[in-house]
Amino acid sequence: MSIVKEINKRRTFGIISHPDAGKTTLTEKLLLFGGAIKTAGAVKSNKIKDHAKSDFMEIEKQRGISVATSVMGFEYEGRKINLLDTPGHQDFAEDTYRTLTAVDSVVLVIDCVKGVEIQTEKLMEVCRMRNTPVIVFINKLDREGQDPYDLLDEIEEKLNIKVKPLSWPISMGKTFKGVYNIYKNNLLLFQASRRELKGDVVEIKNINDPLVDQYVGESYAKQLREDVNLIEGVYPAFEEKDYLSGEVAPVFFGSAVNNFGVKELLDCFIEIAPVPRERETEERVVKPDEEAFSGFIFKIHANMDPKHRNRIAFLRVCSGRFERNAPYHHVRLGKNIKFSNTTAFMAQDKEIIDEAFPGDIVGLYDTGNLKIGDTLSQGEGGMYKGIPSFSPEIFREVVNRDAMKTKQLEKGLVQLMEEGVAQLFTYEMGARKVIGTVGALQFEVIQHRLKHEYGATCDFLNMNLYKACWISSKDKKKLDEFVKSKYRHIAQDKDGRLVFMAETKAWLQMVQDNFPEIEFHFTSEF
Ligand code: G4P
Repeated sequence: MSIVKEINKRRTFGIISHPDAGKTTLTEKLLLFGGAIKTAGAVKSNKIKDHAKSDFMEIEKQRGISVATSVMGFEYEGRKINLLDTPGHQDFAEDTYRTLTAVDSVVLVIDCVKGVEIQTEKLMEVCRMRNTPVIVFINKLDREGQDPYDLLDEIEEKLNIKVKPLSWPISMGKTFKGVYNIYKNNLLLFQASRRELKGDVVEIKNINDPLVDQYVGESYAKQLREDVNLIEGVYPAFEEKDYLSGEVAPVFFGSAVNNFGVKELLDCFIEIAPVPRERETEERVVKPDEEAFSGFIFKIHANMDPKHRNRIAFLRVCSGRFERNAPYHHVRLGKNIKFSNTTAFMAQDKEIIDEAFPGDIVGLYDTGNLKIGDTLSQGEGGMYKGIPSFSPEIFREVVNRDAMKTKQLEKGLVQLMEEGVAQLFTYEMGARKVIGTVGALQFEVIQHRLKHEYGATCDFLNMNLYKACWISSKDKKKLDEFVKSKYRHIAQDKDGRLVFMAETKAWLQMVQDNFPEIEFHFTSEF
């Protein structure tokens, strides 16, 4: 098969949601439809429940589960679908942000009872930064949820994206009848069933077809017609290009646990979701159908066996054909590397693969050569852009508890940071090491892993910091002057970039006012 055909077959996407909205359930149903798994219950939730926060076994389990279900590939209707899992727990949000750099589109799950929740807002911000196309699935229609119009308004307002409903619910909760599929012009009748994959679909001529009255009853049919008229008046006709540019999100309604509305979502997804797209390196835009292979690392996962520190690096193929055992150029290190142990991820199984195409994710066994953000290519020198670090929210200073194990501690910290567990900032003054994270849970993970994998022990001292801001200036002299005058508050990130550690919001504002020539950034990509 030609490379263009391979590319056109592929759809690489991620599902995002606030915990509990139904991401795991939807993932499982999609895999069932794709025939990748046979029974419900096979996909384990990778979320750590709140009560288990201090349970280290749970953390280990999380690591095990998340590697097994990190990427799930399956075939559906002649397409190769790569579904990238994102961690459910908000403390691992940074990992999710990075995974979003490796997908071409996103399905966003919203719980119709809870509406748009905080984690959804944050994740959507990341999608908006990159204009990632989004399809919304409003879930749990078998429950008494919020009014669908209110939900749509809330999505537009809070997520800063226009919506276009492609299906519409007929009632909700106890009296939920089904959905009218605007996109396909048919009626999908609801039957609560956690097992059956087949829902009843009624083909209708148009919304005025008497079959609608027959199946859902006159009063619901009347309401549906009014709603559909209203929707058509309020929302402009669906244009694929507006979805592909990330401006409009088509919306589907359903109930994942009841397999309801999932097939409709999937059928629309394979029609409209983007094929692997072109991507930018520091030097140029790379098209997926270029002959030369290129790709980047977006996730690193430590091996479960602490005695062997090999890791799996997740490579997103961006162009050309990836081949096992071929020598590829490691752009950051400026040397060639061969990978003989390469895995593809098909549902829950990992299997050795010999080749992969744009859109595919390949697991590379690595002994320490690869970092998140690294580019591999067939000779070319530009690094792929687009794996930003975001300012962490919690900061703690690392205090070594065992001077005899200083080396182990340093090595452990470097390796854990390379995996993206947290961010390390080293102060210019006194070389104090500060770890920044999105959630408190990572500190437990770090302490636990340092001890068990590196034999190092450390304490963490709370630090009252508001943000870490990457700093830059067009005027190098002014930047030097700023660094000098704020020496005590300047640190370097793991790549040696300068960061200003702001203690409070008000103080940061004051410093910004006093140094107008300095630019302060909340992400490392600017
Ligand atoms: P997450 O990955 O987004 O965190 O959510 P997950 O799929 O684990 O779903 C969270 C809970 O919501 C689960 O219940 C799941 O069964 C339920 N759920 C998912 N889809 C629907 C739906 O369409 N309707 C209803 N009523 N519930 C739904 P749980 O009690 O946490 O787990 P379980 O015991 O049911 O497995």
